[in-house]
Amino acid sequence: MSSGTPYAAYVFDAYGTLFDVHAAVRRHASDVGPQGQRLSEIWRQKQLEYSWVRALMGEYQDFWTLTEQALDYALAAVPEVDAAHREKLLETYWKLDCYDEVPVVLKSLKDRGAKLAILSNGSPEMLESAVKNAALDTILDDIFSVDELRTFKTVPEVYELVTTSYRLYPETVSFQSSNRWDIAGARSFGFRTVWINRASAPDEYKDLSPDMVLPNLQRL
Ligand code: LAC
Repeated sequence: MSSGTPYAAYVFDAYGTLFDVHAAVRRHASDVGPQGQRLSEIWRQKQLEYSWVRALMGEYQDFWTLTEQALDYALAAVPEVDAAHREKLLETYWKLDCYDEVPVVLKSLKDRGAKLAILSNGSPEMLESAVKNAALDTILDDIFSVDELRTFKTVPEVYELVTTSYRLYPETVSFQSSNRWDIAGARSFGFRTVWINRASAPDEYKDLSPDMVLPNLQRL
């Protein structure tokens, strides 16, 4: 265990936790029009649904493919948004904004001696691009992608990527996610969990509670 923090490693979900998934549509808000937020929410929800369904079937397609398919669905479901914006929206996904507090919080944890990593459904290429764009590549020690296992969260083997690689017991790893379902999976695996409830969502999965709930990553 490191000297300056109670946990040996701090592991972060990527999309929604470090990177703002709604930044792609927001960046093109004037082109996309008043239905932009609806489009963005359907896009995200379908992207996640496809990951769960594919993990259950054992029919893997990488997260980038699912992100494209989810946008196609969202554009069909929200015809008020011109489908001509498809490429532009997809391109932005490779350069999503990180939330304001992210660089400072990560630096401070690193200064205190903890290992820092991402554990994400994202494909390695998507994650590397987003991390580099947000200048987090010099701060993070590792990026763990589900891609090497060809499945998705909340399959327990996904969380095990971290403990195997770092040779740590799950309870010495602090896992942060804004996705309550991801917190349930991480808690079930045995991580210490912090739910970053950015959207002030109601609690769920009551038998798999987070150890801590924060509105953002500050005070981690
Ligand atoms: C991730 C998705 C679930 O980064 O947000 O794993």
